[in-house]
Amino acid sequence: MTSETRLRLGVNIDHVATVRNARGGAYPDPLRAARIAEAAGADGITAHLREDRRHISDADIEGLMQVLTVPLNFEMAATDEMQRIALRHKPHAVCIVPEKREERTTEGGLEVAREENKLAHYIAPLRAAGCRVSIFIAADRRQIEAANRIGAEVIELHTGAYCDAFAEGRMDEADSELDKLREMSAFAHELGLEVHAGHGLSYDTVSPVAAFPEVRELNIGHFLIGESIFLGLEPAIRKMRSMMDAARA
Ligand code: PXP
Repeated sequence: MTSETRLRLGVNIDHVATVRNARGGAYPDPLRAARIAEAAGADGITAHLREDRRHISDADIEGLMQVLTVPLNFEMAATDEMQRIALRHKPHAVCIVPEKREERTTEGGLEVAREENKLAHYIAPLRAAGCRVSIFIAADRRQIEAANRIGAEVIELHTGAYCDAFAEGRMDEADSELDKLREMSAFAHELGLEVHAGHGLSYDTVSPVAAFPEVRELNIGHFLIGESIFLGLEPAIRKMRSMMDAARA
């Protein structure tokens, strides 16, 4: 497999911090999880610094920037505060995600089409600082075209609707969400965008998405951190990695 076709795995460590923060202490340590993920073959580490700091903290981001040997994908809302933090650290990649304080997790993709001018100005300094800018969006042609127009290099397709339908046994809907993801991956790739995907992926749902040839990276967190309770973090990641490789082959 060449580096052009290999599917990368970004391990999202947010929920190690969720467990740590439940008691307000120092463990489990997200940096230790990041090092284990690297050893297990993660191609990158993803962390979302939320405005309310409910999981990853500013100190976690500082620490990750110092210790990581693989790229950091820094997820953030399009706020001035987050832009300042990203410009200070200059992570390898910045993924712009929608954020609502009351949500449990990132519920939908970013509305790029309606905010095109604002987002184009927002991401310009991040790109100038050398960060690869990714936009987290639904598998929607209008949003993909807008992401392309504002100068994003990468889009990450939200797989949540597919995973939710699958988990709730709505298989026709899961199939139609997969069809949309497949078509929109190909469409974005044709426009010259690099395509990533993620949200809610598990051992049950990863294979069809991993098989899309245009998808270059999957970002997976919550399931892997949960599964690590049973398998250990390193075996849980290795199993995901081998399922991705099998689907790709
Ligand atoms: N990709 C993006 C842009 C996300 O916001 C998240 C959740 O933080 C993920 C991937 C990972 O989702 P999950 O934790 O459900 O695997």
